[in-house]
Amino acid sequence: MSATVELRIARFDPERDDAPHDETYLVPVEPMDRVLDLLTRAKELFDGSITFRRSCAHGVCGSDALLINGRNRLACKLRVEQIGRRITVAPLPGLPVIKDLVVDMEAFFGKYRSVLPYLIAPEPTEPGERRQSPAERERYDDTTKCILCAACTSSCPSFWAEPEYGSSSNCSNCSKYHLCQYCCNNNRNNSHSSNHSVIVVDDDRKGKKH
Ligand code: SF4
Ligand code: FES
Repeated sequence: MSATVELRIARFDPERDDAPHDETYLVPVEPMDRVLDLLTRAKELFDGSITFRRSCAHGVCGSDALLINGRNRLACKLRVEQIGRRITVAPLPGLPVIKDLVVDMEAFFGKYRSVLPYLIAPEPTEPGERRQSPAERERYDDTTKCILCAACTSSCPSFWAEPEYGSSSNCSNCSKYHLCQYCCNNNRNNSHSSNHSVIVVDDDRKGKKH
């Protein structure tokens, strides 16, 4: 492993620092490395206190969205060869920094929960399967792929202009209820999530509180 990458990482330790600062590491790189591999190697080789989130390392969990070379993206999905040998990594903008690259996602998840973008079974729960065909599923397939990484929300102009703005990911997650026959069928069978999501989002736009 002879090639190296100049990796600049935004560092902030609330117990030690008054403000964030950058630190640069010359990190050995393998041909197929992703930015997440560089972060892990920098932590192993240079400073065990470098702090970042990751779990699946395969674009599934949404925990490693970062500002990388000026764009929000997943560190585990971005190969070094796609962006070159000088890489800057910072936390997602607009969210409170807890330490180094870790941000507080509670407000983001709170907005997600506030519009109830998921099915809520009627009480008492009806027994048996709720079936849907492959064709019904395909209609809203894209809208199910959000992994709640907050990359879109934190880079959205509305997020920066309007503190009460819900979140870009909510648009994606709520849109499934407009497309999904399954949910509409469930609505007719007393599941209220779809209608409720639409009402909550609509009222939110009008400034009503729930
Ligand atoms: S819609 Fe937004 S929050 Fe969801 S996966 Fe895409 S970038 Fe991440
Ligand atoms: S570590 Fe799970 S999406 Fe990147």
